[in-house]
Amino acid sequence: MTVKDPEIIKQIIRSNFDKSVQSYESYEQKYGRFRQLTYELAKICGIQEGMTVCDIGCGTGASTLALAELVGEDGRVVGIDFSDEMLKAARAKMKNLANTKFISCDAERLDEKIDFKVDAILYNASIFLMPNLSRTLRTAYEVLGLGGIVGMNYLKGMFSEPGGVNLFLSAKEERLEFAPYGRKVADVRTLPDTLSQTGFKDIEEGVTPLEMTGDEVKEFYSIPAQSAGLYPKTPYEERLKMLDALLDHVQNKGCAPLFQVWGWNKGKK
Ligand SMILES: C[S@@+](CC[C@H](N)C(=O)[O-])C[C@H]1O[C@@H](n2cnc3c(N)ncnc32)[C@H](O)[C@@H]1O
Repeated sequence: MTVKDPEIIKQIIRSNFDKSVQSYESYEQKYGRFRQLTYELAKICGIQEGMTVCDIGCGTGASTLALAELVGEDGRVVGIDFSDEMLKAARAKMKNLANTKFISCDAERLDEKIDFKVDAILYNASIFLMPNLSRTLRTAYEVLGLGGIVGMNYLKGMFSEPGGVNLFLSAKEERLEFAPYGRKVADVRTLPDTLSQTGFKDIEEGVTPLEMTGDEVKEFYSIPAQSAGLYPKTPYEERLKMLDALLDHVQNKGCAPLFQVWGWNKGKK
Protein backbone atom coordinates (compact mmCIF):
# COMPACT_ATOMS: atom_id res chain seq x y z
CA MET A 1 0.00 0.00 0.00
CA THR A 2 1.31 3.46 -0.88
CA VAL A 3 1.03 6.16 1.78
CA LYS A 4 -0.55 9.24 0.23
CA ASP A 5 -1.84 11.24 3.21
CA PRO A 6 0.72 14.05 3.72
CA GLU A 7 0.09 14.10 7.48
CA ILE A 8 0.94 10.39 7.72
CA ILE A 9 4.04 10.90 5.56
CA LYS A 10 5.17 13.67 7.95
CA GLN A 11 4.55 11.46 11.00
CA ILE A 12 6.73 8.72 9.47
CA ILE A 13 9.49 11.22 8.65
CA ARG A 14 9.38 12.71 12.17
CA SER A 15 9.56 9.29 13.78
CA ASN A 16 12.48 8.26 11.51
CA PHE A 17 14.41 11.38 12.54
CA ASP A 18 13.56 10.82 16.22
CA LYS A 19 15.50 7.54 15.83
CA SER A 20 18.39 9.09 13.89
CA VAL A 21 20.09 11.44 16.38
CA GLN A 22 23.13 9.33 17.24
CA SER A 23 24.01 8.15 13.75
CA TYR A 24 23.33 11.63 12.34
CA GLU A 25 25.70 13.17 14.87
CA SER A 26 28.45 10.62 14.37
CA TYR A 27 28.24 10.97 10.55
CA GLU A 28 28.33 14.76 10.79
CA GLN A 29 31.22 14.80 13.28
CA LYS A 30 33.25 12.61 10.95
CA TYR A 31 32.49 14.25 7.60
CA GLY A 32 30.98 17.71 8.32
CA ARG A 33 28.86 17.51 5.14
CA PHE A 34 25.77 19.28 6.49
CA ARG A 35 27.98 22.11 7.70
CA GLN A 36 29.64 22.25 4.26
CA LEU A 37 26.26 22.29 2.50
CA THR A 38 25.06 25.09 4.80
CA TYR A 39 28.10 27.21 4.00
CA GLU A 40 27.55 26.67 0.26
CA LEU A 41 23.86 27.57 0.51
CA ALA A 42 24.54 30.59 2.75
CA LYS A 43 27.07 31.88 0.22
CA ILE A 44 24.58 31.45 -2.62
CA CYS A 45 21.94 33.31 -0.58
CA GLY A 46 24.24 36.14 0.58
CA ILE A 47 23.91 35.49 4.32
CA GLN A 48 25.80 38.20 6.19
CA GLU A 49 26.57 39.48 9.68
CA GLY A 50 23.61 40.98 11.50
CA MET A 51 20.90 39.08 9.58
CA THR A 52 17.96 37.26 11.16
CA VAL A 53 17.75 33.81 9.55
CA CYS A 54 15.32 30.91 9.95
CA ASP A 55 16.95 27.49 9.62
CA ILE A 56 14.07 25.21 8.66
CA GLY A 57 14.54 21.53 9.47
CA CYS A 58 17.52 22.43 11.66
CA GLY A 59 17.93 18.85 12.93
CA THR A 60 20.71 18.47 15.50
CA GLY A 61 21.92 21.99 14.67
CA ALA A 62 24.82 21.53 12.22
CA SER A 63 23.24 24.09 9.90
CA THR A 64 22.18 26.38 12.78
CA LEU A 65 25.70 26.55 14.16
CA ALA A 66 27.20 27.37 10.74
CA LEU A 67 24.60 30.11 10.22
CA ALA A 68 25.14 31.49 13.75
CA GLU A 69 28.84 31.89 12.93
CA LEU A 70 27.98 33.75 9.72
CA VAL A 71 25.41 36.18 11.19
CA GLY A 72 27.58 36.83 14.26
CA GLU A 73 26.62 38.35 17.61
CA ASP A 74 24.45 41.05 16.03
CA GLY A 75 22.44 38.54 14.04
CA ARG A 76 20.04 35.80 15.06
CA VAL A 77 19.29 32.27 13.90
CA VAL A 78 16.02 30.54 14.68
CA GLY A 79 16.19 26.76 14.24
CA ILE A 80 12.87 25.10 13.41
CA ASP A 81 12.21 21.36 13.46
CA PHE A 82 9.35 18.98 14.23
CA SER A 83 11.49 16.10 15.56
CA ASP A 84 11.71 16.53 19.35
CA GLU A 85 14.76 14.27 19.57
CA MET A 86 16.73 16.15 16.89
CA LEU A 87 15.80 19.45 18.58
CA LYS A 88 16.83 18.17 22.02
CA ALA A 89 20.33 17.44 20.66
CA ALA A 90 20.50 20.87 18.97
CA ARG A 91 19.45 22.70 22.15
CA ALA A 92 21.98 20.79 24.27
CA LYS A 93 24.78 21.63 21.84
CA MET A 94 23.98 25.31 21.56
CA LYS A 95 22.73 26.23 25.00
CA ASN A 96 25.48 28.82 25.43
CA LEU A 97 25.00 30.59 22.13
CA ALA A 98 23.06 33.81 22.69
CA ASN A 99 22.23 34.33 18.99
CA THR A 100 20.39 31.03 18.47
CA LYS A 101 16.93 29.89 19.45
CA PHE A 102 15.02 26.70 18.67
CA ILE A 103 11.31 26.27 18.08
CA SER A 104 9.39 23.03 17.65
CA CYS A 105 7.17 23.57 14.64
CA ASP A 106 6.02 21.97 11.38
CA ALA A 107 7.61 23.90 8.51
CA GLU A 108 4.16 24.35 6.97
CA ARG A 109 3.02 26.37 9.97
CA LEU A 110 5.85 28.85 10.37
CA ASP A 111 3.60 31.92 10.49
CA GLU A 112 1.92 30.55 13.64
CA LYS A 113 5.20 30.67 15.57
CA ILE A 114 7.27 33.50 14.03
CA ASP A 115 5.89 36.96 14.75
CA PHE A 116 8.91 38.98 13.60
CA LYS A 117 10.16 39.62 10.09
CA VAL A 118 13.19 37.63 8.99
CA ASP A 119 15.85 38.41 6.36
CA ALA A 120 16.36 34.88 5.07
CA ILE A 121 14.81 31.43 5.31
CA LEU A 122 17.05 28.47 4.49
CA TYR A 123 16.10 24.81 4.13
CA ASN A 124 19.40 22.94 4.36
CA ALA A 125 18.79 19.30 3.41
CA SER A 126 15.14 19.45 4.43
CA ILE A 127 12.79 20.80 1.70
CA PHE A 128 12.62 17.42 -0.10
CA LEU A 129 11.10 15.92 3.07
CA MET A 130 8.13 18.29 2.94
CA PRO A 131 5.15 16.86 1.03
CA ASN A 132 3.32 20.13 0.42
CA LEU A 133 5.83 22.48 -1.20
CA SER A 134 3.36 25.25 -1.98
CA ARG A 135 2.05 25.41 1.59
CA THR A 136 5.62 25.31 2.93
CA LEU A 137 6.78 28.17 0.70
CA ARG A 138 3.64 30.24 1.32
CA THR A 139 4.25 30.32 5.06
CA ALA A 140 7.92 31.24 4.41
CA TYR A 141 6.75 34.12 2.20
CA GLU A 142 4.51 35.40 5.03
CA VAL A 143 7.36 35.48 7.50
CA LEU A 144 9.99 37.07 5.23
CA GLY A 145 10.43 40.83 5.10
CA LEU A 146 10.38 42.58 1.71
CA GLY A 147 13.61 41.76 -0.17
CA GLY A 148 14.07 38.66 2.03
CA ILE A 149 15.76 35.59 0.58
CA VAL A 150 14.59 31.98 0.51
CA GLY A 151 17.12 29.24 -0.26
CA MET A 152 17.02 25.47 -0.26
CA ASN A 153 19.00 22.42 -1.27
CA TYR A 154 17.86 18.87 -1.90
CA LEU A 155 19.47 15.51 -2.60
CA LYS A 156 19.26 14.68 -6.31
CA GLY A 157 20.97 11.29 -6.00
CA MET A 158 24.23 9.36 -6.24
CA PHE A 159 26.02 9.77 -9.56
CA SER A 160 29.01 8.17 -11.28
CA GLU A 161 30.25 11.74 -11.88
CA PRO A 162 28.58 15.17 -11.84
CA GLY A 163 26.19 15.12 -14.81
CA GLY A 164 26.79 11.35 -15.24
CA VAL A 165 24.65 8.28 -14.51
CA ASN A 166 22.18 8.37 -11.61
CA LEU A 167 23.37 5.09 -10.09
CA PHE A 168 20.45 4.27 -7.80
CA LEU A 169 17.95 5.07 -10.54
CA SER A 170 19.75 2.87 -13.06
CA ALA A 171 19.73 -0.04 -10.53
CA LYS A 172 15.95 0.46 -10.38
CA GLU A 173 15.70 0.43 -14.18
CA GLU A 174 17.76 -2.79 -14.26
CA ARG A 175 15.23 -4.22 -11.74
CA LEU A 176 18.00 -5.38 -9.41
CA GLU A 177 16.60 -6.99 -6.26
CA PHE A 178 18.52 -4.57 -4.01
CA ALA A 179 17.54 -1.45 -6.01
CA PRO A 180 16.00 1.36 -3.92
CA TYR A 181 12.22 1.52 -4.33
CA GLY A 182 11.42 4.54 -2.14
CA ARG A 183 9.31 7.26 -3.72
CA LYS A 184 10.15 10.92 -3.41
CA VAL A 185 8.15 12.78 -0.75
CA ALA A 186 8.20 16.03 -2.74
CA ASP A 187 8.70 16.66 -6.44
CA VAL A 188 11.57 19.15 -6.17
CA ARG A 189 11.54 19.70 -9.95
CA THR A 190 8.48 21.88 -9.35
CA LEU A 191 10.37 24.20 -6.99
CA PRO A 192 11.13 27.01 -9.51
CA ASP A 193 7.45 27.16 -10.56
CA THR A 194 6.19 26.90 -7.00
CA LEU A 195 8.55 29.68 -5.88
CA SER A 196 7.30 31.87 -8.71
CA GLN A 197 3.60 31.09 -8.01
CA THR A 198 4.17 31.96 -4.35
CA GLY A 199 5.38 35.42 -5.39
CA PHE A 200 9.17 35.00 -5.21
CA LYS A 201 11.29 36.74 -7.85
CA ASP A 202 14.88 36.45 -9.14
CA ILE A 203 14.69 32.64 -8.95
CA GLU A 204 17.96 30.83 -9.56
CA GLU A 205 19.06 27.20 -9.50
CA GLY A 206 22.25 25.15 -9.54
CA VAL A 207 23.96 22.04 -8.20
CA THR A 208 26.52 21.22 -5.53
CA PRO A 209 28.32 17.89 -6.11
CA LEU A 210 30.03 16.19 -3.15
CA GLU A 211 32.70 13.59 -3.94
CA MET A 212 32.38 10.60 -1.61
CA THR A 213 34.02 7.25 -0.94
CA GLY A 214 31.84 4.14 -0.75
CA ASP A 215 32.44 4.07 3.03
CA GLU A 216 31.07 7.57 3.43
CA VAL A 217 27.99 6.74 1.34
CA LYS A 218 27.43 3.72 3.57
CA GLU A 219 27.64 5.85 6.72
CA PHE A 220 25.34 8.47 5.23
CA TYR A 221 22.69 5.84 4.59
CA SER A 222 23.22 4.12 7.92
CA ILE A 223 21.34 7.11 9.38
CA PRO A 224 17.91 5.44 9.78
CA ALA A 225 16.00 8.41 8.31
CA GLN A 226 18.19 8.36 5.17
CA SER A 227 18.00 4.62 4.43
CA ALA A 228 14.25 4.69 5.13
CA GLY A 229 13.97 7.00 2.13
CA LEU A 230 15.58 4.34 -0.09
CA TYR A 231 13.84 1.25 1.33
CA PRO A 232 10.69 2.34 3.18
CA LYS A 233 8.97 -0.22 5.45
CA THR A 234 11.97 -2.57 5.33
CA PRO A 235 13.48 -3.22 8.80
CA TYR A 236 16.68 -1.27 9.48
CA GLU A 237 19.13 -4.24 9.37
CA GLU A 238 17.60 -5.45 6.09
CA ARG A 239 17.95 -1.96 4.63
CA LEU A 240 21.66 -1.96 5.42
CA LYS A 241 22.14 -5.35 3.73
CA MET A 242 20.38 -4.14 0.57
CA LEU A 243 22.49 -1.00 0.60
CA ASP A 244 25.70 -3.07 0.91
CA ALA A 245 24.68 -5.14 -2.12
CA LEU A 246 23.83 -1.96 -4.05
CA LEU A 247 27.17 -0.32 -3.25
CA ASP A 248 29.08 -3.51 -4.16
CA HIS A 249 27.26 -3.57 -7.48
CA VAL A 250 28.04 0.09 -8.17
CA GLN A 251 31.70 -0.30 -7.23
CA ASN A 252 32.05 -3.48 -9.28
CA LYS A 253 30.98 -1.39 -12.24
CA GLY A 254 34.07 0.72 -11.57
CA CYS A 255 32.28 3.73 -10.07
CA ALA A 256 34.61 5.15 -7.43
CA PRO A 257 34.57 7.76 -6.07
CA LEU A 258 30.86 8.47 -6.14
CA PHE A 259 29.21 11.86 -6.36
CA GLN A 260 26.32 12.83 -4.15
CA VAL A 261 24.68 15.65 -6.04
CA TRP A 262 22.59 18.32 -4.31
CA GLY A 263 20.42 20.74 -6.26
CA TRP A 264 19.68 24.23 -4.96
CA ASN A 265 17.18 27.01 -5.59
CA LYS A 266 16.87 30.53 -4.29
CA GLY A 267 14.38 33.34 -4.63
CA LYS A 268 13.66 36.83 -3.32
CA LYS A 269 10.47 38.35 -1.87
C1 LIG B 1 18.44 15.83 6.83
S1 LIG B 1 17.97 16.69 8.28
C2 LIG B 1 18.86 18.24 8.06
C3 LIG B 1 19.18 18.88 9.37
C4 LIG B 1 20.00 20.16 9.33
N1 LIG B 1 19.42 21.18 8.49
C5 LIG B 1 21.44 19.93 8.94
O1 LIG B 1 21.89 20.54 7.99
O2 LIG B 1 22.11 19.13 9.62
C6 LIG B 1 16.30 17.17 7.92
C7 LIG B 1 15.54 17.71 9.13
O3 LIG B 1 14.30 18.26 8.64
C8 LIG B 1 13.30 18.01 9.62
N2 LIG B 1 11.98 18.11 8.97
C9 LIG B 1 11.51 17.36 7.95
N3 LIG B 1 10.25 17.74 7.64
C10 LIG B 1 9.93 18.76 8.50
C11 LIG B 1 8.76 19.56 8.68
N4 LIG B 1 7.66 19.39 7.92
N5 LIG B 1 8.78 20.51 9.63
C12 LIG B 1 9.88 20.69 10.43
N6 LIG B 1 11.01 19.94 10.31
C13 LIG B 1 11.03 19.00 9.34
C14 LIG B 1 13.63 16.61 10.12
O4 LIG B 1 13.04 16.37 11.38
C15 LIG B 1 15.17 16.67 10.16
O5 LIG B 1 15.64 17.04 11.43
